[in-house]
Amino acid sequence: MQYERLVQWATETWEARWPGREFVTIWASAECSNMVAHRQIKAGRKLRGRARYDGMEALDCPVIVPISDYGSRGKKMVLTATSGAYAFKFSDGDEDPFEVIYASSYFDDDVQDLTAVALVPADKLETWAAFEFTCARAVRPRIRRRRDVYIIGGTDAFFDPNVDWDDVILPEDIKTELLEDIEAFFKKGVHIYRQLKLAPFRKLLLAGVPGTGKTMLCAAIARLAINEGRIVVYVSGTDRDGASFEKIQRALHAVTAARYPVLLVVEELDAYLRDDDKARVLNVLDGIESPNNPQGALLLATTNYPEVIDERIAKRPGRLDRIFVIPTIQDSAHAEQMLRHYMADQWKDEHLAVVSQLIEQPGAFVREVALHARMLAAHDHRTEVTLDLLEQSVDSLLHQLRSGADFLARRPMGLVSSGGSARSSNSNPNPFGTPPPALTPLPRRR
Ligand SMILES: Nc1ncnc2c1ncn2[C@@H]1O[C@H](COP(=O)(O)OP(=O)(O)OP(=O)(O)O)[C@@H](O)[C@H]1O
Ligand SMILES: [Mg+2]
Repeated sequence: MQYERLVQWATETWEARWPGREFVTIWASAECSNMVAHRQIKAGRKLRGRARYDGMEALDCPVIVPISDYGSRGKKMVLTATSGAYAFKFSDGDEDPFEVIYASSYFDDDVQDLTAVALVPADKLETWAAFEFTCARAVRPRIRRRRDVYIIGGTDAFFDPNVDWDDVILPEDIKTELLEDIEAFFKKGVHIYRQLKLAPFRKLLLAGVPGTGKTMLCAAIARLAINEGRIVVYVSGTDRDGASFEKIQRALHAVTAARYPVLLVVEELDAYLRDDDKARVLNVLDGIESPNNPQGALLLATTNYPEVIDERIAKRPGRLDRIFVIPTIQDSAHAEQMLRHYMADQWKDEHLAVVSQLIEQPGAFVREVALHARMLAAHDHRTEVTLDLLEQSVDSLLHQLRSGADFLARRPMGLVSSGGSARSSNSNPNPFGTPPPALTPLPRRR
């Protein structure tokens, strides 16, 4: 057996280099013979307490057949794992140098894999464990931690935290206030909550009719959060399992377990306020079951139904800290900005003529108008989108809306609230599947 041969060689080497010193023999991590780790972890690296890594010496080991593996790292192929034998050198304070004799070798079983053994001084196992951990971290390709984004329910495709902040077109004051609120919480608020012996958990709600950019905003904020070193936990209610409290529970568990500040995104919060789960969701918001992450956790929830939330949450102080209404397009400047954005290089000043028809529509409407117009042009083999085509596109979309065609419905809206059933649409001027609820401006609390 390869393992026994490795151990026998290592034991003889130990006796020759450290006669009489006690050691233990352990299975070791194959990552310690990874070239990427060797390159990154330099002699002098502090490990834990006063322990330090002092470099390594390659040893000649006759029982190891040298085989190397290449792996892709970014665009480059680099030498990663290799079999080999080393004396890794460490010191604990000034006067206590020691070595770990290490050997890794490929073996052929069902699969070819690396096996590794290490002979470690009996009282230095912790230092060795810290070194193994450092090696494992060094070779994990470009991932700083386990994961930056946890998606609970659904797959990664449900949420792509790759939206640029500048691509979210909304009145600047809303964007600024939202961002300032989040940053103030993480940078100063967490400390204040802790001083007050409260779990640092802030809760913000984005409310608005479908298609105004709430999901997009969450994705853009998630991207900023990741850049700030925070973890994003995203709960999706749009997969087969729907909006179950179990998902919230798993999310809260992830929030508590993370050793980093967390942005928790829960979309369509109203869907979790069904009879069975309502009390528990409220407990979370009230603080009874809310997560305690000392680094701070911020809930960013979204809803199309502020009035449902209003009834149960907004009137009770402390359940939600702040509600941001994400509006449809309110004025021609905003409409023009959105249209220019989605027309991109096809923009022509004559397109300004349709701007007045975009007011009161959600951003998603403008995107569809622009896409549709560009498709019409492509279909006609035209190289530019004339005003005529754009008007045609606006008309056809408005027509579909007026006739109630639900052509853009993207998800079931089976909202069950205590007083009502799922809403249905008839004279719905909104393209996105559901009638816009009366968006009563909700009180903003500061
Ligand atoms: N404010 C906006 N700025 C730029 N693009 C927008 C905006 N609002 C909507 N869009 C476009 O419409 C698409 C749909 O928007 P989004 O999914 O963010 O809406 P939503 O408010 O989350 O809707 P829902 O309430 O139905 O979940 C976006 O991917 C984007 O292309
Ligand atoms: Mg959404």
